[in-house]
Amino acid sequence: MRKILVTGGLGYIGSHTVVELLEQNFEVVIVDDLSNSKQWILDRIKKITNKEPKWYNVDLKNSENLNLVFEENKIDGIIHFAAYKAVGESQQKPVEYYENNIIGLLNLLKCTQKYDVKSFIFSSSCTVYGQADELPITENAPLKKPESVYGKTKQFGEEIISDVASISNFNTILLRYFNPIGAHPSALIGELPLGIPNNLIPFVTQTAAGIRKELSIFGNDYPTLDGTAIRDYIYVVDLAKAHIKGLTRLLNNENSSNIEIYNLGTGKGSSVKEVVDAFENANNLKVNYKYAPRREGDITSAYADASLAKEQLNWEAKTSLEECLRTAWNWQKTL
Ligand code: UD1
Repeated sequence: MRKILVTGGLGYIGSHTVVELLEQNFEVVIVDDLSNSKQWILDRIKKITNKEPKWYNVDLKNSENLNLVFEENKIDGIIHFAAYKAVGESQQKPVEYYENNIIGLLNLLKCTQKYDVKSFIFSSSCTVYGQADELPITENAPLKKPESVYGKTKQFGEEIISDVASISNFNTILLRYFNPIGAHPSALIGELPLGIPNNLIPFVTQTAAGIRKELSIFGNDYPTLDGTAIRDYIYVVDLAKAHIKGLTRLLNNENSSNIEIYNLGTGKGSSVKEVVDAFENANNLKVNYKYAPRREGDITSAYADASLAKEQLNWEAKTSLEECLRTAWNWQKTL
């Protein structure tokens, strides 16, 4: 049985990926310092899978403790999620963001060299493309200077990993996610935003639940059909499955180059207004909303050309927007 280290394995995308790994009979070791997750997610993972991943409450910045994890476990592959991810906060706390996202990554890469781990999946973001000149966005689109410190940590992370892969016997896949949404069909795990949500879907579900008075739709004067901004919303379980495809490709030496990059999206753009309408239809309820000015740093439109992932990873997003939004609401109800 292959042993996979998942950093940030109790977080939103991490926990869904751990479930998929366990269901496909990988052994899982989680490193998560609970900085943006809860310990009870571990029990939920056990409940869904009837399996028990090992968990270390280790901060990746603590190199000594991280080494211990590798001493105690012979790791075959790594999926690296653990990172701070709030765009606005990253502008206020640049030092903390660079320290956490970059030092954490460097410590982990040191361990891959010391303990000879050759397969590494990195959680990146479509934020590296900024407002692309052409849509849909392919992996060859030029990277733009990121708008936020958070975005820079993703771009620097990609570069650091690529440099390591170009000098050593090390294979990596960089996965650029579009907008992950929804929750596990069991409604036992899902997104747990800290405080007031920044992302659209948790704000919508909290508004529907009466926790927030009203959703602000940021901007209705974009050059789009209904004036609201367009994104590519991808179901978190579909996204999780792509990690297993990528990992398996690396473990089986099926990769064609030691650095591969894949966009993970549906290929379809939806406007904010369409998302709100779809949420109302899917769950048969109304969401209080108003139009508000554009949010600083937002782009007009981003959606993926996900054909490379389909060709090479044999992966594609399967879940409709409405189905995603049903799972998001079912999860919110349990909270
Ligand atoms: C954001 C980050 C991106 C990150 C991603 C992770 C920014 C600028 N970008 O993407 O770097 O990788 O989250 O999930 O923050 N919206 C509203 N009202 C709200 C919240 C959002 O209208 O209360 C709109 C936004 O203006 C945007 C769309 O909904 O048009 C999606 O927003 P969000 O979920 O925050 O994702 P992104 O901004 O695309």
